[in-house]
Amino acid sequence: MPELLIATSNPGKLSEIQAILGDLPCQLLTPDAIGVQIEVDETGHSYAENAALKARAFCQASNRVTLADDSGLEVEALDGLPGLRSARFSPLPNASDADRRGYLLSLLKGKPRPWKARFRCTIALAYPDGRCQFAEGECTGEIIPEERGSHGFGYDPIFLLPELGCTMAELTDQQKNRLSHRAMALQAVRPLLEAWLGG
Ligand code: IMP
Repeated sequence: MPELLIATSNPGKLSEIQAILGDLPCQLLTPDAIGVQIEVDETGHSYAENAALKARAFCQASNRVTLADDSGLEVEALDGLPGLRSARFSPLPNASDADRRGYLLSLLKGKPRPWKARFRCTIALAYPDGRCQFAEGECTGEIIPEERGSHGFGYDPIFLLPELGCTMAELTDQQKNRLSHRAMALQAVRPLLEAWLGG
């Protein structure tokens, strides 16, 4: 069976990717499972550049077709922050997701609501022959000052989907995997994977 390496160490992302692509006729592998341990500096200036850096590095290290995503939260009232810095957005060393949510809320305090925001995700698919393909997704909503829900990860508990009246962390995994930025990008990448598998 063809093998597809999923280049992430984020368990939240990994389970979403496995749930959405798990039915494809290929084996989804993690770097841990095949003993690939590399650190990739996210030095790109866009989600696409960072996703490609990760996908290409893991593809070269493993000689396997590799999927990597780069994603982030963009808040309008903060001119698009935390954006590319979403994973490291806190002045504290060794900050947790909760620390990052707290820091974001501290920056928004006093600013007029609604705090419009969007999640963005770009997926890169790197092939051993050097090719790289991309797919994108986004999900709009707003940041709320109190945490709600216990599913998901990262900024999910403070990201409200106004048309549903609940936060991303109040959705079931199945619901999140139908409408999230990552779900959109993964649906867009599916035909590219099907072409690879069928070719
Ligand atoms: P990176 O893609 O590894 O650079 O990390 C993106 C960061 O954005 C994550 O660590 C989270 O803080 C945030 N993020 C990305 N996707 C989601 C999501 O689906 N829910 C909540 N936070 C997310």
